Amino acid sequence: MTASATEIQSRTLAGYADASRLRQVHDRDWVLERLPAEPQILVDLGSGIGQLLQAALERFPSIRLAAGLERSEHRIAEAAERLRPYGARTVLHRADLTDPEPLPLRPDAVTMTSVLHWLFPHEERIFAWVSDRLAPGGRFLLTTYHPARDEHGLGGEDEIVREALTALGTPRADVPALFARAGVLPIATRTRTVDDLAAVLRPHLAVAGHRERDAVVTVESAEQYAHFHAATFGDYYSRLVPAERRADFFRAVGEAARQRQGERGHVSHMPVRLWELTTH
Ligand SMILES: C[S@@+](CC[C@H](N)C(=O)[O-])C[C@H]1O[C@@H](n2cnc3c(N)ncnc32)[C@H](O)[C@@H]1O
Repeated sequence: MTASATEIQSRTLAGYADASRLRQVHDRDWVLERLPAEPQILVDLGSGIGQLLQAALERFPSIRLAAGLERSEHRIAEAAERLRPYGARTVLHRADLTDPEPLPLRPDAVTMTSVLHWLFPHEERIFAWVSDRLAPGGRFLLTTYHPARDEHGLGGEDEIVREALTALGTPRADVPALFARAGVLPIATRTRTVDDLAAVLRPHLAVAGHRERDAVVTVESAEQYAHFHAATFGDYYSRLVPAERRADFFRAVGEAARQRQGERGHVSHMPVRLWELTTH
């Protein structure tokens, strides 16, 4: 059996430039507006395909070095291509942010957008890393998502996946146990509440301010959402079904989103917080 285009995409997290227009792009613009007036050294954590670094380099001629730390080799390769015109002003490091290396960087600006939930339950390691490196007066701008969760810890994208699994024949009540059996921690559990996160941050960083917005995702077609899901969540959720049902799974996720769009006028919405952090 040959894999569908969406399955192949999910393995390499491809198509992110296009897919991220649905949600993540708004975080980038939001964060760039809050950077210090003339940043010198910027570190972007979970830099993906380098879009934030590119936008920052274009907007701030003061940046001498824009460094990206990222785990996915596919994304690093795409970022390297995008950032090639900026030559020695950029550097990319392959890094696991749950076990960050002691790189010799002294940034006055650090950013991390749409990444933190992937580091659960070890977020404090990257907070300590930033706290050790941030230059005096520097800013760490962090965005975090806070979907509502049910008694099983499911919410946000988990809900759409639950609807897809139900359409494929899994009784709705069995979905939390299926997540547990497959070792898929619900995203709404990974995202922590604002209060929990504040407690994890507090020993390492001070909160200088915050903003909130409602991130609303709307979609034009089932195919568009299947593409967004594969580019954003990769094969994280598709492990819930056997290999031979994965193409059906991505189709069902797209269809669940399309139905929601028809019924509610959007697929999902959830509060996003921008934290402005400094050292103590
Ligand atoms: C939703 S994307 C966000 C990318 C980019 N920051 C943006 O806002 O568009 C999450 C990124 O975090 C990266 N990531 C997830 N876990 C990671 C880890 N443990 N270490 C480094 N990068 C990680 C993923 O590979 C992916 O590029």
